[in-house]
Amino acid sequence: MSQALRDARRFEEGASRRIAPESRPAFHLSSRTGWMNDPNGFSLYEGKYHLFYQYHPYDSHWGPMHWGHAVSEDLLHWEYLPAAMAPDMPYDRDGCFSGSALTLPDGRHLLMYTGVAETVDEHGAIRHLQTQNLAFGDGLNYRKYAHNPVITGDQLPPGGSRYDFRDPKIFQAPDGTFRALVVDDHETERGQVLLFKSPDALHWEYVSTLASNGDRLGLMWECPDLFRLDGYDVLLLSAQDMLPKGFEYHNGDGSFYLLGHYDETTDTFTELSDHAADYGIDFYAPQTILTPDGRRIMIGWMQNWDTCNLHTPQVPWFGQMSLPRELSVRDGILYQQPLRELEAYRSEPLSFTGVTVENDEISLPGLSGRTLDLTLELHPCEGDLFDRFAVRFAKNETCHIGVSFRPRESVLKVDRKFSGSRRAIIHQRRAKVRHDHGGIKLRLILDRHSVEVFVNDGEKVMTAAFDTDPSADRITFFAQGKVTLDVLSYTLNV
Ligand code: FRU
Repeated sequence: MSQALRDARRFEEGASRRIAPESRPAFHLSSRTGWMNDPNGFSLYEGKYHLFYQYHPYDSHWGPMHWGHAVSEDLLHWEYLPAAMAPDMPYDRDGCFSGSALTLPDGRHLLMYTGVAETVDEHGAIRHLQTQNLAFGDGLNYRKYAHNPVITGDQLPPGGSRYDFRDPKIFQAPDGTFRALVVDDHETERGQVLLFKSPDALHWEYVSTLASNGDRLGLMWECPDLFRLDGYDVLLLSAQDMLPKGFEYHNGDGSFYLLGHYDETTDTFTELSDHAADYGIDFYAPQTILTPDGRRIMIGWMQNWDTCNLHTPQVPWFGQMSLPRELSVRDGILYQQPLRELEAYRSEPLSFTGVTVENDEISLPGLSGRTLDLTLELHPCEGDLFDRFAVRFAKNETCHIGVSFRPRESVLKVDRKFSGSRRAIIHQRRAKVRHDHGGIKLRLILDRHSVEVFVNDGEKVMTAAFDTDPSADRITFFAQGKVTLDVLSYTLNV
């Protein structure tokens, strides 16, 4: 083991002991210590789910990337393991960037990741060279492959960039050979998804370009994943530097998916449509896994690149993952539902039927808390449509987070303006939602520092992270006009 990895392991061991568990999310995985971004190497290995992550243990801001490591048996209770990789080789000395994992036929756990190394280009400029690399392990310790890198910029098709060439997603084809999707920044097409193939996961060749951007969805693309679900193939991606498009995409970095068909014989992907993967503020770089019972589960980084650098260095941890979400394709879109295992940790049910709120803000007896599974079913209006409905939570005298619905515009908004933030950052996001004359179903999964709003059984999801003091735990319902709704709430004790 390198000195850099030994140092990181020793450091995180000590530093994480000084972090009070109550300062963390109750059931969303957060950085063991320091900084976390993308989920990496999400895989099932020897009966446990492994989730690695982009990790800078020494600071709560992004820095030379390590791979943090956690395991779980149910995707809800996570146990930290020692950091899996540190930037300690000539080809990754400036960072072990995102990647993926699988189990090799001989039983070893294989990690495929991007190594970053500073270099000077032909014009004398300092650039970060990105190459694809391997590490083999046993679920705890990983040894980098002696012949790394296994894919370099020399294998790029014309117009590709060796400086933005990353995030390999490795998978095994039905015939036992291997494939890897790697994203790249093409000089005119910008983001593109390149497909490489290998007989043994060690020797790779470029095969085809599965998808390219062409000035539609941001600039560079990141973090690809590809899976078959309900008769479609879903190519999951994240785009940097997006321009807004109606209510679908927003300024900045955002995750999205291309729904289509991947033909393994011709190595082509036929696109049918593109959609945002989440309509809130904080969801990026998701990865998926297939569970033994056949569910496709997605986890994303519950942050946003444009707003994640505003905390003070004293913060001992920064960055959390989203809830694992069960996916399905219906009516040409990806539905997302909270992992069903969460239901086993619900207690203290509170149910209110036919609650009427009319030009008022009310609370309901006994309903408060910061770790809740809260379902609201607004009844279709019998008479006039109401103007606005809002549920406000994480609330005290000065703070609250709001989810509000304006049926006349069919707009649902998540708003953390009053979260306690003193920064001029994005605090609101709006999404177009379907409803039946005001009738809509919202399921809010509330953890100490986040909300994930599942609309109409997962048709859309809006995710936001916030820092509101955990003692702010009141919940109210507000209506302009008359709203009738059913409320079902459970405390989550994961
Ligand atoms: C996405 C990303 C990846 C990269 C990693 C670096 O959030 O930019 O493309 O591998 O983060 O930490």
